[in-house]
Amino acid sequence: MRVLGIETSCDETGVALYDSERGLLADALFSQIDLHRIYGGVVPELASRDHVRRMVPLVREVLERAGVQRQDVDGIAYTAGPGLVGALLVGGAFARALAYAWQVPALGVHHMEGHLLAPMLEERPPQFPFVALLVSGGHTQLVRVDGIGHYQLLGESLDDAAGEAFDKTAKLMGLRYPGGPEIARLAEQGAPGRFVFPRPMTDRPGLDFSFSGLKTFTLNTWQSCVQAGDAQEQTRSDIALAFEQAVVDTLTIKCRRALKQSGLKRLVIAGGVSANRRLRASLEKMAGGLGGELFYARPEFCTDNGAMIAYAGCQRLMAGQQDEQGLSPRARWPL
Ligand code: KG4
Ligand code: ZN
Repeated sequence: MRVLGIETSCDETGVALYDSERGLLADALFSQIDLHRIYGGVVPELASRDHVRRMVPLVREVLERAGVQRQDVDGIAYTAGPGLVGALLVGGAFARALAYAWQVPALGVHHMEGHLLAPMLEERPPQFPFVALLVSGGHTQLVRVDGIGHYQLLGESLDDAAGEAFDKTAKLMGLRYPGGPEIARLAEQGAPGRFVFPRPMTDRPGLDFSFSGLKTFTLNTWQSCVQAGDAQEQTRSDIALAFEQAVVDTLTIKCRRALKQSGLKRLVIAGGVSANRRLRASLEKMAGGLGGELFYARPEFCTDNGAMIAYAGCQRLMAGQQDEQGLSPRARWPL
């Protein structure tokens, strides 16, 4: 089965074609980062309008690059939520209209299921069951995954998501949007040990997270340095490193706990923050120490993309699922 995947939940227009036998045939992405950067975050109305502009050219590009005619597409999957409603509506309406015109089934896919399954597109995909750490701009969740659609939430963030904490902290320190890659870049020059930040909620049992206090702690540290006349780039790098290390350690401690509690050996990380090199290294070491293994997607499939939606949609369409009548994008939607 060949499925066209369409992702428009936030500020990336992603389109891809996945073939159940041959794998990923082509994918294309337009990132709106430059459009939103001057506002310091995503402006929903601008995002929706830009998705409208990019949709047709991206679908054309993907079909051309895959060398596939539209008659050879068997289904269309699109992100139905969670995300920005206006942005979701653009992708959903477009996907449904295209499916109607091409007379193929359409299916709305859960954005986080897309992220969760993105590592399946790699050469060495994880086998079920596994523990997944979903770390994106909107979500931080630990999930036990026994198969497609068989998800058990083990823990989640009670306030900010990890990616959100990166973005907000970066903004408070005068860095560009999106903050994750900016903090990671600065942290490379940071001096270890100059600042040590708390590892929230690691001293009590459970698998939930909280990152908003860490964000405030970082802001206070930065402000007291600035007030003391030390707003140097090196200080900012040292703080970025202390923040990143605190997030990485916190996530690692909780993942270790989840693996031990579940008795599982395979750990999957997915979502934008899973592109973080320090996080990957730390989890790899931890999982290895438990005799387990870490799995993740290539960096461009950690952040939003069409390939993960094409893949997730293909699995569900092959299982016989398809949309009912009516289009209902969902800003919030539990996995
Ligand atoms: O999965 P994603 O593209 O979008 C959502 O579904 O939210 O995740 C975006 C998030 C942003 O918060 C961004 O700052 C973060 O992922 N991110 C990173 C890195 N690359 C992206 N955070 C830390 N380190 C990175 N290298
Ligand atoms: Zn995402």
